[in-house]
Amino acid sequence: MSSSSSKIMIQAVAAGAAQESSLPLPVKEIPGSYGIPFLSSIRDRLDFYYFQGQDNFFKSRIEQYGSTVFRVNMPPGPFMAHDPRVIAVLDAKSFDVLFDVSRVEKRNFLCGTYMPSTSLTGGYRVCAYLDPSEPNHAKVKQLLFTLLASRKSYVIPSFRSLYSSLFETMESQLTASPGAKSDFNKLNDVTAFDFLGDAFFSVTPSSTNLGTNGPSKANKWLFFQLCPLITLGLPKILEELFLHTFPLPPFLAKSDYKALYAYFSSAAAPVLDTAEKLGLSREESCHNLLFATIFNSYGGFKVLFPVILKWLALADPNLHSQLAKEIRSVVQAEGGKVTLAAIEKMELTKSVVYEALRMDPPVKFQYGKAKHDLLIESHEAAYKVSKGEMIFGYQPFATKDTRVFENGNEFVGDRFVGEQGKKLLKHVLWSNGHETESPTVENKQCAGKDFVVLVGRLLLVEFFLRYDTFTAEVGTVLLGAQVTVTSLTKATSFI
Ligand code: HEM
Repeated sequence: MSSSSSKIMIQAVAAGAAQESSLPLPVKEIPGSYGIPFLSSIRDRLDFYYFQGQDNFFKSRIEQYGSTVFRVNMPPGPFMAHDPRVIAVLDAKSFDVLFDVSRVEKRNFLCGTYMPSTSLTGGYRVCAYLDPSEPNHAKVKQLLFTLLASRKSYVIPSFRSLYSSLFETMESQLTASPGAKSDFNKLNDVTAFDFLGDAFFSVTPSSTNLGTNGPSKANKWLFFQLCPLITLGLPKILEELFLHTFPLPPFLAKSDYKALYAYFSSAAAPVLDTAEKLGLSREESCHNLLFATIFNSYGGFKVLFPVILKWLALADPNLHSQLAKEIRSVVQAEGGKVTLAAIEKMELTKSVVYEALRMDPPVKFQYGKAKHDLLIESHEAAYKVSKGEMIFGYQPFATKDTRVFENGNEFVGDRFVGEQGKKLLKHVLWSNGHETESPTVENKQCAGKDFVVLVGRLLLVEFFLRYDTFTAEVGTVLLGAQVTVTSLTKATSFI
């Protein structure tokens, strides 16, 4: 890069914006090749899962091609996906094409180049697999908007009641014996499952016929859909054969799904009445509610909550004191109540949640198929893409792009505080869209966007009303972080 263009870049970062020179970008051939059909996609899959790992898989190719846009085969490949060929977009600028539904089609691409059998969703293609041009997309998304809007006043009390029990259990686990630890992920699975049922439908699943088996049934059903993207640390040959090459037979998860469906058809009966008024059948709506609650929401919180605690555990304990101070003083000023208005005033708390979502977006892969011939622009060049080609984004690279975020690879708790900080929010993309935009029935942005950031903030609020600080061991598990809490220091100043 020339010194004048690097100056422009530095100014852009300082201004907190990805503005660049208005000179037209050179149009270049997309580098990279798909290699020998079948064999190269298996090779790429092995590199991705075992030999290089996700981040290095992309990093090494960016270095090899000198470009953040290139051609590559994405796992799982044969025989799970019939075409593994994609054009990868790995910077903040080129990634944007994936949010533009006038340019990309989002039909059947939630998980990537493969689509799990619809036998796992009652024979229906549920909302997340529908392109906005399909009529049922708007109807189902509207149903979810209506549900979420109608449940606003239930979320805070439900969260506080269930997560305070989680923390009580955690405290008793930690005091059970010297050196005892508490597995946050395990507790979170159970609590998040009950919380979602209670927050959405006022019926905690554990109080129904599902009993305490809801999370394990949900985990199994999720695994059947996501296993092509997972490694378990088993011998490679077994994983390749059973997880990455052929779909697991859906009938093995049928009885679990049936039990989950029974909960929804009873607990969500009033929502199904609303669905009929919107022109949807009860059955299709029920499968959609199940998917949105378990795959989108429970699956999302399984990953997001440990990620938030992970970054706090790794941060300077000073951040813990600042959060405790902010949260307690705002709640005190609101007469001791945790309200939506109070949470809105917690600048640092909000920033920490956005920063966790930026560092570790829970859904890391996004896909879209070019609807017509189009041009993708990275920071350096423009690339021609032909109609029908698959575009793929690895989100952590877009949200850590150092041309947009200074020290983009570092967790900076107060990154989004203040006017300059707020300007950066448009580059937070976890919801399959810009944080400054909203989901609509016309786009593919997460229907639960506001709910998710609210609940992320509530986790911090509940935690720092109870504790001054904590320590934890941080590791990795399946698609996210594993957090094992080793100590909790109870709040010394109360409101
Ligand atoms: C931490 C939690 C969550 C995360 C990380 C998350 C993330 C996402 C992402 C990345 C997408 C786009 C997928 C794609 O097409 O590439 C999405 C879509 C969607 N999400 Fe969420 N989500 C979460 C929670 C929720 C909640 C609570 C709901 C509530 C009902 C929800 C409902 C949906 C729906 C319906 C779609 C499909 C949108 C459409 O087809 O237009 N999600 N979510």
